[in-house]
Amino acid sequence: MRLGVIGYGAIARELLSVLAQEGAMPEAVIVLMRERTQANCQMPGLETVGTAGELVAARPDLVIECAGASAVREHVGTCLSGGINTVIASVGALADGGLHDALRGAARGGKSRLILPAGALGGVDLLAALRPSGIEELIYTGRKPPAAWRGSPAEKLVDLDHLDAPVTFFEGDAAQAARDFPKNANVAATLALAGPGFAATRVHLVADPGASCNLHEVSVRAGVGSFHIRIEGKPAPDNPRSSLTTVYSLAREVLNHSREVAI
Ligand SMILES: NC(=O)c1ccc[n+]([C@@H]2O[C@H](COP(=O)([O-])OP(=O)(O)OC[C@H]3O[C@@H](n4cnc5c(N)ncnc54)[C@H](O)[C@@H]3O)[C@@H](O)[C@H]2O)c1
Repeated sequence: MRLGVIGYGAIARELLSVLAQEGAMPEAVIVLMRERTQANCQMPGLETVGTAGELVAARPDLVIECAGASAVREHVGTCLSGGINTVIASVGALADGGLHDALRGAARGGKSRLILPAGALGGVDLLAALRPSGIEELIYTGRKPPAAWRGSPAEKLVDLDHLDAPVTFFEGDAAQAARDFPKNANVAATLALAGPGFAATRVHLVADPGASCNLHEVSVRAGVGSFHIRIEGKPAPDNPRSSLTTVYSLAREVLNHSREVAI
């Protein structure tokens, strides 16, 4: 297969190494990266492009965005209207309803699909399946070591350097979480979109000095059943904000696209 990748940071690099490990390295990998990075990058075997138009012209079978919300805004519409199925890791970008509608229109126009992966989470299949039965309650708690919240507005709400107990510094809905913590909005947005929507998804964000990994807890009460999930994800070596489980979820999307059986 020919794989397009938007961004070449922690997740993209790990993704390609998981595919190689699985014996599923695509025959061509075309990476869209910012020009500045492009000039500094040495990547034998990879083709690089600087715009979404060039990426579409390279005719990938599938594009994976792993660059951030701004990249979803800048590039994904062009991929979809160019007829390329596109998986986005930065699902939080869809908290912007106008962008979400525009991307749906681009997918309809290009006869392609916008694919939202589970990302750092598990259980999104069950949540989405149960949605027609009515989601009565969805509570998500994101718990990370204080260092993993650095560079976010949590710095202003809590003294990250001197915590001796867990502190819940945010409680609200997924729309507020996406607005106030855009770099940590992907998990809550995925739950909101698979489940009861942004306003009805409750979000708690916790800085926990006792946490040694990124912890995601999801509690769902639906019409035909309830479930609770707790995921302890190891951080990506190059970016403590990103869980490695996200890399494996994206790899699954590529493998499902290229193998005989999708699961
Ligand atoms: N769905 C999930 O559960 C989940 C979990 C973790 C991360 N993510 C998303 O994945 C993204 C990537 O994570 P990462 O750890 O690899 O980040 P990173 O910072 O290590 O890498 C991001 C890369 O994208 C590039 N980039 C940024 N904006 C771009 C643009 N507009 N056009 C082209 N390239 C651009 C950067 O130069 C960098 O190379 C995050 O920003 C986040 O939105 C999603």
